[in-house]
Amino acid sequence: MATPKLLLPVVAVLVASVSLVAYGAAQETKTLRETPLTESGAPPDLYKQSMPAEGFGRAYRQQPPLIPHKVDGYQVTVGNNACMGCHDWPGNTRFNAPKISETHYVDRQGVRLDKVSGTRYFCQQCHVPQADAKPLVGNSFRNATQAN
Ligand code: HEC
Ligand code: HEC
Repeated sequence: MATPKLLLPVVAVLVASVSLVAYGAAQETKTLRETPLTESGAPPDLYKQSMPAEGFGRAYRQQPPLIPHKVDGYQVTVGNNACMGCHDWPGNTRFNAPKISETHYVDRQGVRLDKVSGTRYFCQQCHVPQADAKPLVGNSFRNATQAN
């Protein structure tokens, strides 16, 4: 039979979990969904892509730059990368587009290649356009320079 000494931690854990559950129930559940699950809401507004004339600033030095132009219709498939038509050297000079970074021509082992590395092939894994939209939730992000 368990002694009261042994039971004490068990009771403490029970009390703690009951109060946690009660606390949770008292909190209002926050969700970004505005209509009940049983109804389908109105489609979200469409926002125009931001295209600042002077380009986007970067929040920190290593940030992949945001895309300052439309990308609809530029597909990246195994056989064809539409972005490289303009961003690979020497084609980029014809379109006055910035060449992909030299880091994009280096493979995982550090070997320099003459074509884009497989690790950088899917551009939009890292580079995304920015929509001119209100943030869904507030945020107090400060970039590395502002935070100093
Ligand atoms: C028709 C040519 C063209 C194509 C295709 C194209 N771009 Fe661009 N891109 C440009 C030009 C020109 C700029 C320079 C800024 C401007 O004029 O909009 C640019 C700028 C950028 C920048 C900003 C670079 C920086 O240093 O700020 C990124 C990132 C970028 N493009 C990514 C992409 C990705 C990803 C794709 C494919 C989904 C793509 N681009 C397809 C022409 C192109
Ligand atoms: C794994 C993430 C990643 C992928 C995938 C990637 N990039 Fe980048 N890209 C970056 C980062 C980070 C930078 C900025 C730092 C640097 O130069 O490496 C950058 C820089 C750039 C620049 C600016 C170069 C300069 O000198 O200012 C262009 C243009 C660009 N990328 C285009 C592309 C295109 C086109 C693709 C697809 C073929 C691509 N990137 C794929 C992360 C990525």
